Amino acid sequence: MNKIEGGYQDMKGKVALVTGASRGIGRATAKLLAAEGAAVAVNYFQSESAAVAVVEEIMKAGGRAHAVRADVRNEEQVRLMVGEVEKSLGPVDLLVSNAAIGFPVKPFTQFSWNEFEAKLCGELKSVFFCCQAVLPGMIERRSGCIIAISSTLSRHSSPGFIAHSTAKSGLDAFVRSLAEEVGPFGIRVNVVAPGLTLTDATAWLPEEQKAMMADMTPLKRVALPEDVAGAVLAMASDHNRFVTGSYIPVSGGMLML
Ligand SMILES: NC(=O)c1ccc[n+]([C@@H]2O[C@H](COP(=O)([O-])OP(=O)(O)OC[C@H]3O[C@@H](n4cnc5c(N)ncnc54)[C@H](OP(=O)(O)O)[C@@H]3O)[C@@H](O)[C@H]2O)c1
Repeated sequence: MNKIEGGYQDMKGKVALVTGASRGIGRATAKLLAAEGAAVAVNYFQSESAAVAVVEEIMKAGGRAHAVRADVRNEEQVRLMVGEVEKSLGPVDLLVSNAAIGFPVKPFTQFSWNEFEAKLCGELKSVFFCCQAVLPGMIERRSGCIIAISSTLSRHSSPGFIAHSTAKSGLDAFVRSLAEEVGPFGIRVNVVAPGLTLTDATAWLPEEQKAMMADMTPLKRVALPEDVAGAVLAMASDHNRFVTGSYIPVSGGMLML
C-alpha cells in the first residue's frame, strides 16, 4: 500500500497521463491532479496552444507538467507518447483515458456502417492502445491505476446517441475485464461516467435542453468539468485502494444504479 502524505497532496510523487487534456474534462482533471501533487502529462491532438497553456498554468502554480501530442487512436503515436512521458516525468502511475472521440448524433437508420465503426473503433482503440502502452511498466512495479471516462449514456441511452452509447458500453465491459486481469498485479481499473457536462463537446446543445436536464437532476444542475475531475481524483486516490472494476456516474443523481 502506498503511504498517503496527507489531506491535500493525495497524488504527491505520482505521474499521471491524461489523454485529451487540452480542453474540457481532461483539462480540469490535469489541473486538479497537479494541484494534488502529481506530475501530469497533458496529451493533446490538435489544440497545441491550449495544451501548452494548461502546462504553463500548472507550472506557474509550482507543479510539474509536460504537453505531449498523440492521436490516441494510433498505436505508434501512443507508444511514442508514453515513451516521451516516461523520459520527461517518469513511469506512469495513473492513466486517465479521457480523449473525446467524436460521433454523429442522428437516428440509427441514417447511420452508415463506416460512421458507426469509426466511433466504436476510435473509442476502443484509444483505451486499448493507451492501456497496452502503460500496463507492462505497471505490472512490473505491481502498482498502477487506470480510469476510463465513459458516459452515463452507456447505461441509459437517448435518441440519436446510438453510436456513443454502444461505444461507451464496450468501454465499460473492457474496463471490467481488464480489472479482473490486472487486479492480481495490484492495478485498479475503473470507469468514471459523466452525465451532461458543460464543455466544447456539448456547446451545441440548446440552452432550453440544458435547463431541462438540470431541472430533472436531483442536484438541480448539470456538471462542470471540475465535477468530473473531482470524481477522477477520488477514484485515483489511494484512499480508494480497494475499489476496482467499478462504474461511478457523475450525474448529480440523474443516473442512480
Ligand atoms: N461533455 C459531456 O457532456 C460528456 C458526457 C459524458 C462523457 N463525456 C466524455 O468525457 C470525455 C471528455 O469529453 P469533453 O466533453 O471534455 O470533450 P471536449 O471538451 O470536446 O475535449 C475533447 C478533448 O479530447 C481530445 N481529443 C479528441 N480526439 C483526440 C484524439 N484522437 N487523440 C487525442 N486527443 C483527442 C481533444 O484534444 P485536441 O483539442 O487537442 O484535439 C480535447 O482535449 C470524453 O471521453 C467524452 O466522451 C463527456
